[in-house]
Amino acid sequence: MDTIAVDPDLYAAQSAYAPDDWQSETTSIRSSIYRGLMDNGRRIPSDEQQFETYEAGHLVDLILDSDRDNPLFRSPIGADRERPLQVLDIGTGKGTWAIDVADMFPNATVRGVDLFPPPVTWMPPNCVIEVDDVLQDWTWRERFDLIHMRNMIGSFDNAEWDRVYEQCFEKMAPGGWIEQLEVGPFITSDDNSLPEDSALASWGPILQKCGDRAGRPCDIVLTMPQSIKNAGFVDVHEKVYKWPIGPWPRDQKFKEAGMVNSQHWMSGMEGWCMWLLTKYGDPEPWTKDEVHVFCAKLRNELKNPHYHAYHKA
Ligand SMILES: C[S@@+](CC[C@H](N)C(=O)[O-])C[C@H]1O[C@@H](n2cnc3c(N)ncnc32)[C@H](O)[C@@H]1O
Repeated sequence: MDTIAVDPDLYAAQSAYAPDDWQSETTSIRSSIYRGLMDNGRRIPSDEQQFETYEAGHLVDLILDSDRDNPLFRSPIGADRERPLQVLDIGTGKGTWAIDVADMFPNATVRGVDLFPPPVTWMPPNCVIEVDDVLQDWTWRERFDLIHMRNMIGSFDNAEWDRVYEQCFEKMAPGGWIEQLEVGPFITSDDNSLPEDSALASWGPILQKCGDRAGRPCDIVLTMPQSIKNAGFVDVHEKVYKWPIGPWPRDQKFKEAGMVNSQHWMSGMEGWCMWLLTKYGDPEPWTKDEVHVFCAKLRNELKNPHYHAYHKA
């Protein structure tokens, strides 16, 4: 994979590394996609930190694919804007992806399903959010042209993953696609700027160990192509992204993605690790205070301009 070039002017602009406030950080981002979301009134700060985290992950996705006509998915459907499409978003969270797809494809009916209702105030007429558990037998009568999943890491154990993929396969329309994007847990750097003994470098191995102990693997990004094939899907493609953390890249697109991803981590990390570490921490379950200290270290390191950190997705 290509190395992401480091911004040589970075150290003169270290203020970019004081992102204590989400709003001041993100309002400095000039990407047209981000502006579009702001203009649509979608980027309303949520009381719920988790929704802020989901939104940041969505933005990183959009920024990294902002050079594509359709940054929302890669499956080769939707070119014929007249043909009706059935789309399902499993674990839709705040519903942002489902709403954006419904906006972009008025010919599609987009269903977002989640265990919890999202705090959505506006919905395109062709988008439906349903509260349901996808581990139960699916009762949808439709067959889907696209089934989408994103950031479902930790949601299911191995048997549950198999069941979810099997139900996806059963409910596919002829020629339909499944598309999944997951973030890898391992944080690294190409230029060895991230010390091996840093908290950031330890995140992946620690979370992987806890996930294995919990029976909820954290490295599904590595195994999902095979799991998808096991359910019967053919013509499986893989696209690996580098998600920079922080504004260290020289290239504007990666810099913007890195700034938003830094906030993604700042707001998300405690929620991602608290349950795993306090239940399945190694060698003993961690205390809440220990998790807070770990997260404080991670947050400090996220602000270090000398660490050119990224993870894959
Ligand atoms: C980390 S969030 C990802 C949200 C969204 N896909 C995104 O990328 O912003 C995972 C979501 O999966 C949902 N989820 C977990 N298990 C589920 C289940 N059995 N059925 C439906 N939704 C589920 C959770 O409630 C949560 O909203």
